[in-house]
Amino acid sequence: MPSATRELKVDLGDRSYPILIGAGLLGKQDLSTYAAGQQVMIVTNETVAPLYLAAAERCFPGKNVDHVVLPDGEKFKDWQTLNLIFDALLERRHTRKTTLVALGGGVVGDMTGFAAACYQRGVPFIQIPTTLLSQVDSSVGGKTGINHPLGKNMIGAFHQPEAVLIDADTLQTLPEREVAAGLAEVIKYGLIRDAAFLAWLEESMARLSSLEPGALIEAIYRSCACKAEVVAQDEREGGLRAVLNLGHTFGHAIETFAGYGEWLHGEAVGSGMVMAADLSRRLGMISEADQARVDRIVGQAGLPTSVPAGMQPDDFRRLMAVDKKNIDGALRLVLLNALGDAVIVADANPDRLQETLSRFCQGMGC
Ligand code: NAD
Ligand code: GLY
Repeated sequence: MPSATRELKVDLGDRSYPILIGAGLLGKQDLSTYAAGQQVMIVTNETVAPLYLAAAERCFPGKNVDHVVLPDGEKFKDWQTLNLIFDALLERRHTRKTTLVALGGGVVGDMTGFAAACYQRGVPFIQIPTTLLSQVDSSVGGKTGINHPLGKNMIGAFHQPEAVLIDADTLQTLPEREVAAGLAEVIKYGLIRDAAFLAWLEESMARLSSLEPGALIEAIYRSCACKAEVVAQDEREGGLRAVLNLGHTFGHAIETFAGYGEWLHGEAVGSGMVMAADLSRRLGMISEADQARVDRIVGQAGLPTSVPAGMQPDDFRRLMAVDKKNIDGALRLVLLNALGDAVIVADANPDRLQETLSRFCQGMGC
């Protein structure tokens, strides 16, 4: 293992796995021990392949390494594109001993994981996330899947990876807008569970936005530690894990309304967290000063704090009605009891919710 690698563990008994975090790991870290058989299929996309495919192949010395390159974009997180992975696996005679490797952002990671969950009733996979969002969130925890035109991430499976390799150096090629989108999920961890981390983020946002390696590695490590802890306690989202969805109920509605790929997932989550803070304040759960801190840090990260033009409260209601957290038709939202302490609230006061939706839909975001 390269010397500066930091390691975390997602503790799930005999399905536990390591998260290896560092700079310059891709191409140097030997991952072949995490691929039990001889066959490896790297799944990536047309943007990431020219940048990192050759280096990723070097992580599997002694293996037969194949690859499939998907079209790039959230709008391709669908059945048709998923099938390209199965086509490649079958055409090249990959057996149930193969290991899939997701090389790319959350779209590639979610689709590869879902393909691994389904192919020949389930094969192992490894995550090599290359966006900030996927490094701090989607590569850890085993949620995999695709979108449906009627709802985001509605078709999927829980399937944990064998290992996660995070090379922060890959972020140096990431477009600025994608960096900001990843910062939304980083901020989320501070807001839901770790007030000290939130304060550190308030001080460090400029270093993170300018991709300073030390700050990035610290933010990735603390985010993954938070996620690993939550997943270890509640792998299948029976309760606690739902707090990882702060801002996501509003955010998924925004993504679906705007059309997949128009608003980045992290951008929608940024606005969604601002909306969740607004509702938390209206319900008397947090102070105006706390709400202002949420607005400020989301803005500092370069994220939107408003909703798409033309989106109406009824659009939110219709789209939030299919949220996976809802039980028996009751809307369940992740709200803030305090900064650093999130709770799940069932059937929040409808008048206060209407006030929040009206405020944002009238273009009166922050
Ligand atoms: P993405 O996968 O679309 O990647 C963003 C863009 O960056 C793409 O164009 C990609 O090709 C490009 N890219 C990737 N790595 C790059 C690099 N190093 N340099 C240059 N370009 C690079 O988006 P994302 O934000 O990574 O992931 C969003 C997806 O993740 C959504 O579909 C969301 O639903 C999902 N998600 C899943 C979970 C989970 O727990 N499974 C959690 C959060 C988000
Ligand atoms: N991103 C939310 C979760 O993994 O549960």
